[in-house]
Amino acid sequence: YTAEIDASDTEKGTYPHFMLKEIDEQPIVMRKIINEYQNENNELKLDTDIRSAMKAADRIYIIAAGTSYHAGLVGKEFLEKLAKIPVEVHVASEFSYNMPLLSENPLFVFISQSGETADSRSVLVKIKEMGYPALTITNVPGSTLSREADYTLNLYAGPEIAVASTKAYTAQIAVLAILAVDTANAKGIELDFDPMQELAIVANAMEVLTDQKEELEQLARDYFSTTRNAFFIGRSGDYNVSLEAALKLKEISYIQAEGFAGGELKHGTIALIEEGTPVIALATQKNVNYSIRGNVQEVVARGAKAMVISLKGLEEDDDAFVLPHVHELLTPLVSVIPMQLLAYYAALHRGCDVDKPRNLAKSVTVE
Ligand code: AGP
Repeated sequence: YTAEIDASDTEKGTYPHFMLKEIDEQPIVMRKIINEYQNENNELKLDTDIRSAMKAADRIYIIAAGTSYHAGLVGKEFLEKLAKIPVEVHVASEFSYNMPLLSENPLFVFISQSGETADSRSVLVKIKEMGYPALTITNVPGSTLSREADYTLNLYAGPEIAVASTKAYTAQIAVLAILAVDTANAKGIELDFDPMQELAIVANAMEVLTDQKEELEQLARDYFSTTRNAFFIGRSGDYNVSLEAALKLKEISYIQAEGFAGGELKHGTIALIEEGTPVIALATQKNVNYSIRGNVQEVVARGAKAMVISLKGLEEDDDAFVLPHVHELLTPLVSVIPMQLLAYYAALHRGCDVDKPRNLAKSVTVE
């Protein structure tokens, strides 16, 4: 494939599928975000009105669907850990009809690649009627969600054409990290975390991973060629990524896949493990490394075919794949790359239409 990729290009070039091109564009998108969100003095560059709105909020309500919802789950970690603001993440279609009790000064953050998702728009219309402020994080600045919100943050990911979202997810996470740090700065919270430096390390790590396609294609062949189902497990930050990994695999390969919190398996799901059931475990979080490995042993003892994907520094001898080391908060940005590639190759080898999976549209403009 070509090394000269342009993330704003709408052509596949020499790539067989948009999805593969968009996976490869992720390091470029990270660097673009770093450039767009810092000034010449290497300070964060965000609209001061957004900063004030974030500072004034006593609680953030993140509203999104699908992959963007999964990015919101990661964003919650950043905003709570770095900026110390309580955050709730809601699936848009649920929030619309079953609104939780709201705090006194909420700020609504809509995350949407397309900016056109009807479920999210329905929430936006309702909360604007109630007089609450809204910020939209989107890849399409002129989109409906962007126009109708008070503020917009752009993802700078370039057009995403494959139905399965890849580069928009990582762009959303990167922008949420920057937003969290900017808010922490505005609140006078001292941080030992330089987001631009850490994102630059992530961009390099992503490049290492997108160069490991052959290894991942082989793993996809070994685990997903004939299986009917698969499980992704993780704890803490890895749990959020396991949800996205399962969505990616099911939407393009039609394998029934679910993401689970490692500790929750024994409360029911472990009953589904049979001889040869693929279980993919993420092990990138130091404080739960021991526990997730215990969960892997539990499923292996029941016949599962386990694959552990770990972070450099936490790896063990039998791990199938080791991710380059990045800051612990930002591991979703690298651990999702092998998940995207595994899903891609699984779909490819099963003869599925990778870029246009059945029953799905790129942007869902009906409720
Ligand atoms: C992801 O791969 C999906 N195709 C889908 O879940 C998508 O993320 C969802 O429909 C939300 O879209 P949006 O980000 O454009 O709002």
